[in-house]
Amino acid sequence: MKAKEPCPANHTRDRGDERLMRGEGGNRTYRGALIGCGFFARNQMAAWLEMDRVSIEAVCDIDPENARRFASEFGIGRVFTDAGEMLASVRPDFVDIVTPTSSHHDLVEMAARAGVAAICQKPFAQTVDQAIRMVELCEQAGVPLLVHENFRWQRPFLHIRKMLKDRAIGDMFFMRLSFRHNFDVYQTQPHLRDRKPLFLFNMGPHLFDLARYLAGDIENVFARIQYVDPAVKGETAFTISAAHAGGAQSLLECSFASHIVPDPFPQTLAWIEGSEGTIELAPGYRIRTHKDGNIEEESANPAAPGWGNSKWAGVQESVQNIQRHWIDVLDGSCDAQPSGRFTIDTQRLCLASYESVESGMSINMKNWGMPNAHVARPQDS
Ligand SMILES: NC(=O)c1ccc[n+]([C@@H]2O[C@H](COP(=O)([O-])OP(=O)(O)OC[C@H]3O[C@@H](n4cnc5c(N)ncnc54)[C@H](O)[C@@H]3O)[C@@H](O)[C@H]2O)c1
Repeated sequence: MKAKEPCPANHTRDRGDERLMRGEGGNRTYRGALIGCGFFARNQMAAWLEMDRVSIEAVCDIDPENARRFASEFGIGRVFTDAGEMLASVRPDFVDIVTPTSSHHDLVEMAARAGVAAICQKPFAQTVDQAIRMVELCEQAGVPLLVHENFRWQRPFLHIRKMLKDRAIGDMFFMRLSFRHNFDVYQTQPHLRDRKPLFLFNMGPHLFDLARYLAGDIENVFARIQYVDPAVKGETAFTISAAHAGGAQSLLECSFASHIVPDPFPQTLAWIEGSEGTIELAPGYRIRTHKDGNIEEESANPAAPGWGNSKWAGVQESVQNIQRHWIDVLDGSCDAQPSGRFTIDTQRLCLASYESVESGMSINMKNWGMPNAHVARPQDS
């Protein structure tokens, strides 16, 4: 078994998470159940199957054919079309929720009421109220809630976070995170063509989570979206300017319509400037440190899992990493990173960005979207 990626050491403990930890530790094997047998779940299922301390006992999908095909492909004996029935019958230690956002609230609530720990895919919730309720239900039940934000678990970003912590470039004052490409995501996810809102809602959480992971909390956002692809209903590009509490400024850029040769998908590129140097995450997973008039380059090339392939290695390795981290969380040796509670603010930022788009104004995040405040409500992921 491969060595675990360590938990990012300086991730601030979320208030309340300590009492959520089970503290059972040891070599216990955890019994899991996966809900939502679609496109992305294949990565998660493949990663669970290679882990020693996890046994996936059942899968569930409201589409019986999806559930049956998935279970048969991965050799899972118990198949359900109703998550409530599955929880009552299987009584797993945790559920891995890989369904569209519209179902997340109800599924997390079901898990919490059954006393079952949960991993929930991004975008976490449709509204801030939902996100808060999901977190509170899990906290009341005393079960951990991890949001499957796998970008921060990609090899280059684990490394860059450590470099920043070690003050490799001094005090950060500017960061650009750029996810721009022209990869045909509609081939495997045709439903995306009809989604509106689209990529700010779907990719915004990844970039906001990553920005917060690397540069801390965000106090103010200004967002723009673009409809570049006439064959797609929703926005295919967005640009966000974010002001971090520590004083750094970030630009978060995303486009699914950019012609770049070679196409960098699925890499996120980065440019981070500090008082003593600059970190560049260049295509080919190359981390280049500009400092003292020199450039030092190191590789953060991901290793494709046995079940994966080189194109998707960065994503697939990050799925392995976050799922190994989940065992640490269940053991009680680590907080969920990111936890549901941390992700409430990511959700607020994403929804506030739509308000910024509509109003043409920057949004002060203090109290924005908290209960009783006005909240934008995109319909689904
Ligand atoms: N982290 C990443 O990099 C990443 C990448 C792609 C998708 N995602 C996220 O994963 C989730 C699923 O996306 P996808 O592309 O795999 O979608 P998908 O449509 O391919 O699969 C979703 C599956 O969930 C099932 N489902 C829906 N509601 C259900 C319910 N209440 N109970 C049981 N099954 C239900 C559907 O029938 C479908 O089979 C979304 O939240 C998406 O944003 C994350």
